[in-house]
Amino acid sequence: MCECDLSHKLLRWYDIHARSLPWRVPPSAGKRGVRPDPYHVWLSEIMLQQTTVAAVQDYYRRFTRLWPDVIRLADAPEEQVMAQWAGLGYYARARNLLKCARLVAREHGGVFPDTRDGLIRLPGIGPYTAAAIAAMAFGRSEAVVDGNVERVISRYFAIQDTLDKAKPEIRLRAEAMTPHQRPGDHAQAMMDLGATVCTPRNPRCDMCPWQTGCQARALGIAAELPRRKPKVARPTRRGIAYLARRDDGAWLLERRPDKGLLGAMLGWPGSDWGEAPEPCPPVQADWQDPGIELRHTFTHFHLRLQIRVARVPADCLPSRGVFMGSQEFCGSDLPTVMRKALDIARAHLQEN
Ligand code: ADE
Repeated sequence: MCECDLSHKLLRWYDIHARSLPWRVPPSAGKRGVRPDPYHVWLSEIMLQQTTVAAVQDYYRRFTRLWPDVIRLADAPEEQVMAQWAGLGYYARARNLLKCARLVAREHGGVFPDTRDGLIRLPGIGPYTAAAIAAMAFGRSEAVVDGNVERVISRYFAIQDTLDKAKPEIRLRAEAMTPHQRPGDHAQAMMDLGATVCTPRNPRCDMCPWQTGCQARALGIAAELPRRKPKVARPTRRGIAYLARRDDGAWLLERRPDKGLLGAMLGWPGSDWGEAPEPCPPVQADWQDPGIELRHTFTHFHLRLQIRVARVPADCLPSRGVFMGSQEFCGSDLPTVMRKALDIARAHLQEN
């Protein structure tokens, strides 16, 4: 099948089977060719970096309700944006999101650049995201290659190299099949095909619009592609977190440094995370061990975090952090690992 036929077949399939997602204009009759709002595309694409569609949807709805356009997001206080992002992970994205919104609001009059080259200059927008926004929001014929697309293409053409070596060929194939008509729908159709039919395990080849030409299917190796290099094992780091609760209900928290893991998010004072953490209580208290080691996995390591909990008096003077009452913070403002620690501490204090 020639490339234009591939895209044509794919779009016909997408017109019927497109997932209904809150940032999309559905390709149903009457709406076909209507492009979504660039702000919606940008926001969803930033949220979807390294994060699943299922995890993103509620966050996306909340953000667009709170901040319906880029000008309003640009005016939001950073703490509020970080709090709304809590739980979604990769927190540098949230800081860059706000930087980007402020730049678009102040230097571009609230209008996103409409080309890949213009978009890629903005904070938090790399080659993939620039291509995705240019195609979906502005109808530019840009190839959009994410993990789903890599899987679909490596199977259709039975590319047997490991993925790291196969990427240049996959990109050329993706570029060759990207159409001038409806490039945004083509990109999203590729993603939907990968997410719902050409799935990592147990691909549903009998449902696929490309089943007749698919070379991996013909060879009976669809589920084996793309081949991957063996993963390196994640190391385990250890740490101690101190959760101090004052009689008035306030908790001792500190904002993490802007740069690095969980940057600019609220968290518990504690040790560095390494091989053998040193105790470093932020305030003199009768620290208790709830007896539960918290486990959490980040992209590059597993964390085992010891929790220490104490009730402290109103006049105590901690060496770091600030006490925050229920008006200033709630559990959902915390990144997931810190929220898990809070759950352990709350349960312990209720029992003791
Ligand atoms: N992943 C990244 N962008 C997406 C989109 N627009 N639709 C579905 N999944 C995606």
